[in-house]
Amino acid sequence: MTDSPPAHESESVARGRETVACLEHVTKIFEKTPAVDDLNLEIYEGEFFSLLGPSGCGKTTSLRMLGGFEEPTSGRILLGGRDVTYQAPYHRDVNTVFQSYALFPHLDVFENVAFGLRRQRLNKAEIARRVGSLLEIVDLPSYEKRRASQLSGGQQQRVALARALVNEPKLLLLDEPMSALDAKLRRQMQIELKRIQTQVGITFLYVTHDQEEAMTMSDRLAVMRNGKIEGIGSPRDVYDSPSTEFVATFLGASNLLTGEITNTEGPFATITLTNASTLSVPRERVPAMSGSKTVKVGVRPEKISIGASSASPPPGHNQLRGRVRVSTFTGVGNQYLVDTASGVEVTVYAQNIGQELAPRSGENVTLTWPVEHTFAVRPMRGGDDIDELQSEGE
Ligand SMILES: Nc1ncnc2c1ncn2[C@@H]1O[C@H](COP(=O)(O)OP(=O)(O)OP(=O)(O)O)[C@@H](O)[C@H]1O
Ligand SMILES: [Mg+2]
Repeated sequence: MTDSPPAHESESVARGRETVACLEHVTKIFEKTPAVDDLNLEIYEGEFFSLLGPSGCGKTTSLRMLGGFEEPTSGRILLGGRDVTYQAPYHRDVNTVFQSYALFPHLDVFENVAFGLRRQRLNKAEIARRVGSLLEIVDLPSYEKRRASQLSGGQQQRVALARALVNEPKLLLLDEPMSALDAKLRRQMQIELKRIQTQVGITFLYVTHDQEEAMTMSDRLAVMRNGKIEGIGSPRDVYDSPSTEFVATFLGASNLLTGEITNTEGPFATITLTNASTLSVPRERVPAMSGSKTVKVGVRPEKISIGASSASPPPGHNQLRGRVRVSTFTGVGNQYLVDTASGVEVTVYAQNIGQELAPRSGENVTLTWPVEHTFAVRPMRGGDDIDELQSEGE
């Protein structure tokens, strides 16, 4: 029998990319409770990876262990294939951008960026070349002589980024670097940051609790909860096929209806809801169940079309009947809250393309969506408060 490589190794080989950072069974316990719980994670060269999750789920702790600011209680940390678990931060080819930029207020922009290079004793011309090129990239070319204390929040953020990138680390760790910026500037910086990352080609590990931010910028992301990863993949995969109820709720809005798996023959499983109506779900989107057959069937609000009552669903579609409770015009579209016969209120987002006649509250409607946009997840255990999670994810 041949030894098969560990799953993570074959995955990175399959992607043809080198692994830059790796957490292997990493646990960090503070005063008895695990902040990070047997975490396994691999970051590939050149990717923009985000760790996303509610407050206290262990994002910063994971990042600090990668940076060398915290030692794991157990497990291993590898950078570029080398075990660095107990190595000091300055022995790691990693830089960190924290939430507070910690610029030197009395130094000008050039000196703030040059700081790390001066410590490496590079010659003057090389320092000027590198700093100049980085200031170009972060779009602050004429700010060299400006003091850090005279910059706006967004500009300070760019200087902090330039400073962290100037010595070309293998990996850049960013811990909620935009939380001090207002919403509009944040959105601009999201696009900027992604552009900068693509241009410099350095691997970014970005921590945030803002799901929109993570989806906009990341090549891959992981949704964390209670020190563990619950879902990982490209933003589209994690959004379209969430692995758990928590992921479905934390990453965007989901309609979730409770039902029993009643048939798994063929390419589609049948889920029977509490009011006996049935929905089809692609088999690969139904979790393997042992014992209980109870699942939650999910569909995203923008996948549903809302229309006048009709007899039966078109082929390849699921359908539910209901009555509009609230109909709201939002400019870009209409949002509906629909009471369905299964007892669950379903949210629908319809885009405003200028043609539709919006159903009004009190109208009977049919909700229709393609079977392939339907997923099923195992219900959360008791004690998990979805409302709380939802408000944290906003
Ligand atoms: N030095 C510490 N001593 C004791 N407990 C800690 C310490 N650092 C973190 N914790 C605990 O570990 C858990 C994870 O904290 P962590 O800072 O990693 O969360 P986070 O996901 O970054 O949250 P946030 O989004 O609020 O920044 C929390 O329950 C926190 O209280
Ligand atoms: Mg944190």
